[in-house]
Amino acid sequence: MKAWQRTLWCGEASLEHVGEEVVVNGWVHRIRDHGQLIFVEVRDRTGRVQVVFDQGEVPELHREVREWRSEYVVAIRGEVVRRLPGTENPQLPTGEVEIRPRGVKVFSAAKPLPFELDHADKVDEILRLRYRYLDLRRPELQENLRLRHEFTLRAREWFARHGFYEITTPLLTRSTPEGARDFLVPSRLEPGSFYALPQSPQLFKQLLMVAGIERYVQFAHCFRDEDLRADRQPDFVQIDLEMSFVTQEDILQTVEAMMVETLAAVGREVPHPFPRLTYREAMERFGSDKPDLRIPYEIRDVSELMGESDIGVFRKALEGGGRVKALAVPGGASFSRKEMDQMEDEARSLGAPGLAWLAWQGESLRGPLARFFFQEGRWTSLGERLRDILQLQEGSLVLFAAGPWQKAAEILGHFRQQLGQRLGLAERGDRLLWVLEFPLFAWDEELGRWDAQHHPFTLFHPEDEALFAEGRLGEIRAQSYDLVWNGYELGSGSLRIHQREWQEKVLEILGFSPEEAQKRFGFLLDAFQYGVPPHGGMALGLERILMLLVGAKSIREVIAFPKSASGTDPLTGAPAPVDPHQLRELGLQTVLSPQARGIQ
Ligand code: AMO
Repeated sequence: MKAWQRTLWCGEASLEHVGEEVVVNGWVHRIRDHGQLIFVEVRDRTGRVQVVFDQGEVPELHREVREWRSEYVVAIRGEVVRRLPGTENPQLPTGEVEIRPRGVKVFSAAKPLPFELDHADKVDEILRLRYRYLDLRRPELQENLRLRHEFTLRAREWFARHGFYEITTPLLTRSTPEGARDFLVPSRLEPGSFYALPQSPQLFKQLLMVAGIERYVQFAHCFRDEDLRADRQPDFVQIDLEMSFVTQEDILQTVEAMMVETLAAVGREVPHPFPRLTYREAMERFGSDKPDLRIPYEIRDVSELMGESDIGVFRKALEGGGRVKALAVPGGASFSRKEMDQMEDEARSLGAPGLAWLAWQGESLRGPLARFFFQEGRWTSLGERLRDILQLQEGSLVLFAAGPWQKAAEILGHFRQQLGQRLGLAERGDRLLWVLEFPLFAWDEELGRWDAQHHPFTLFHPEDEALFAEGRLGEIRAQSYDLVWNGYELGSGSLRIHQREWQEKVLEILGFSPEEAQKRFGFLLDAFQYGVPPHGGMALGLERILMLLVGAKSIREVIAFPKSASGTDPLTGAPAPVDPHQLRELGLQTVLSPQARGIQ
């Protein structure tokens, strides 16, 4: 092997190596057989280099290479030469040189691949995942994995420089309430009992603060059994941190500095300081708690104006305590009637009674409410005032939503995002921001009870303490915060409750009886008797950061071995049935028949 070991990485071959004898190792990327000349491109993780087999010069090697196929793993020894003038390839970083071979060795042959690496983006993703080790040979994915390595390394260095200890917390543990279902692991030694895989290390990191660790970080594997989306996987990694004796401001500044400096270290300068919005402001102006600030228009409240109008639906909503909100979309007036009908259906599916709209094109205003704003070729006074408030321009589409403020804002927020993308209005670049002061509790309509908006360990806003006694739970703000990047939630965090009585009170509001609270979180409540520093922290989704960094549409592109959109792993076949004797050992029986589980 030694004689055939690499002395030069393919992607590094350049004019400075001309005249040197080198050995390259790698995969045959492409073969072009021109008869007398055979061109072989060899690829390793750094790039590709061309080797030219000339029948006149190396007849035996030429004969041997004729048998080669793409993806053979080979070693080639030869001399680096400058390409003849006119034959350079400016597309290839190594395109000024090529290798004249003196010897070759095949380490292993390869069957034709199930898909062409160069056209993998057109291949069904399940097939790509089934052969992920081939898919990962593509330069784009290699670059994603390299960048993941680099980003993680730089972030780790940053935390180490700033006094954080990296501490591993257990994977076999008890349920952590982050709002998803748990993945359970049955215990053999205690049949009938289960570990839960952590949805996050939340409780352990708080216990580390009780233990006096002060600054903790972990690149933590988390597991959540929830419906998958492009930015969700059942197992994923969080950059998880916690700090003691700090204010919310300290945590925001720490995370912001870590992000700005780590992104810069991997070559991405992002605008900072990150702007800050309260949850209320984000919802009112953008209809979302993770607004994409690249989309250059906002939602407006037109309740006052519509209160003076004769438009029945709006007046009714206002009389019922609701609001009327409007969104002007530049260029949106060109949508057809059919497209508007589709949008209306969509609004209904989001829970709106309908979607009123106006489209201003040339000298006309279309839409179900147009007559209130425009009559006989002229704007009415209501129309003129609306035009001023929304700063309408010809070509704009106006969407209205009326009802409870949050619902109305959410519906317009949905269209703000969707139409901004569809009409190509999103500006280029990176817009990161903080969203602060989320509500502490959210009312769960289905279950008829309060839920924690972030999680049950979040501290309320000091100004809102009195609202507990007044029973105005929905108005209590939390000392919590999200970091958002171009419309994606990157991370969430909060200051924590560190007093046992408050923790018990909040758990009670969330519907845990004292016994239940003790059963599930007794270890935390017990710890809270022995001296707890005020503390807080945050967790950032590593894959979401990387997805935005590389401009991918899905976090699967930055994970070496991701699950498919339906949560399976086409490569290993997981999840899979297990042997009956394994089930017996665990004291388990499955109640579904093998057929119902899809096993023949
Ligand atoms: P939260 O549940 O908001 O907070 O999660 C923090 C961040 O983790 C990422 N994330 C995910 N990434 C990929 N796939 C998923 N299924 C997934 N779920 C979450 C997101 C999210 O913003 N313990 C708290 C943090 C804290 O309070 O310190 C927590 O886990 O980027």
